[in-house]
Amino acid sequence: MHVIPGPASPVLSERVATELNLPLAKVTYGTFPDGELYVKVERDIEDAVIIQSIRSSNDIVYLMLLFDALSNSRITAVVPYMGYARQDRVFSEGEAVSIRAIAEFLEAHAEKVISVNLHSREAASHFKNLVEIDAMPKIGERYKGQDVVMVSPDRGSVERVKVAARVAGCEYDYLEKVRIDAETVEIQPKNIDVEGKRVVIVDDIISTGGTIARAAETLEASYVEAACVHAVLAANALNRLYSSGVRKVTATDTIEQPVSEISVADLIANAISDVLM
Ligand code: R5P
Repeated sequence: MHVIPGPASPVLSERVATELNLPLAKVTYGTFPDGELYVKVERDIEDAVIIQSIRSSNDIVYLMLLFDALSNSRITAVVPYMGYARQDRVFSEGEAVSIRAIAEFLEAHAEKVISVNLHSREAASHFKNLVEIDAMPKIGERYKGQDVVMVSPDRGSVERVKVAARVAGCEYDYLEKVRIDAETVEIQPKNIDVEGKRVVIVDDIISTGGTIARAAETLEASYVEAACVHAVLAANALNRLYSSGVRKVTATDTIEQPVSEISVADLIANAISDVLM
């Protein structure tokens, strides 16, 4: 069995291979002058565990080419960050359900698909053979023993934050909109007074940073930081967060970013062992 490092997840692939004591396959990735992509896998591989997040459309093309290069292998696809999962239903008539198309594509080539914190139950429901890992305990471990309050940016995500807070051994809450008067709506924690406290806003994804920046601007905490599983960090997200008063951003390595200080390699290695070994 070989780990096939996808171009979006080279560091995580190496960490998972080390955890499992498996060899990393030698793969060459390239781009032709016209922008077309190129993949070459150096040897015949019987069992292939491809590790490749989907953060961009090119990441999907790379997966497509890897599936072709490995068409004689038994394939497990580990997609740590499953992009396109936010379009998980038809919001307006005629729209593609993007994650359904991705699920069909992955499952047409891989016997098993392993991913981390899919955006929603709805998104996960489009897969037939998905193993989903929860990375929230890893975020909890990072804050274990620290004097923090974990806050979810909305009520819908509070269950996720509860898992992290239990492991950290800290209090948790969620933010809700409170109407102060006809013109003013404030975002406040539902139950806990965070004035003067150290708050960690925890979310599954930080994309534009808008959700967390809005929350940070209105919280009266003495110190606000943010933690997430998937640091998409579109456009100017980090600057936007720091300008809103967020002092630190911490994420896992499902997407490899400078803020990816928490590794999910051991969780992925365990999932691969459970499924394949
Ligand atoms: C929303 O449902 C998600 O849990 C995140 O809160 C959202 O994707 C964050 O996006 P952004 O950083 O663009 O506000």
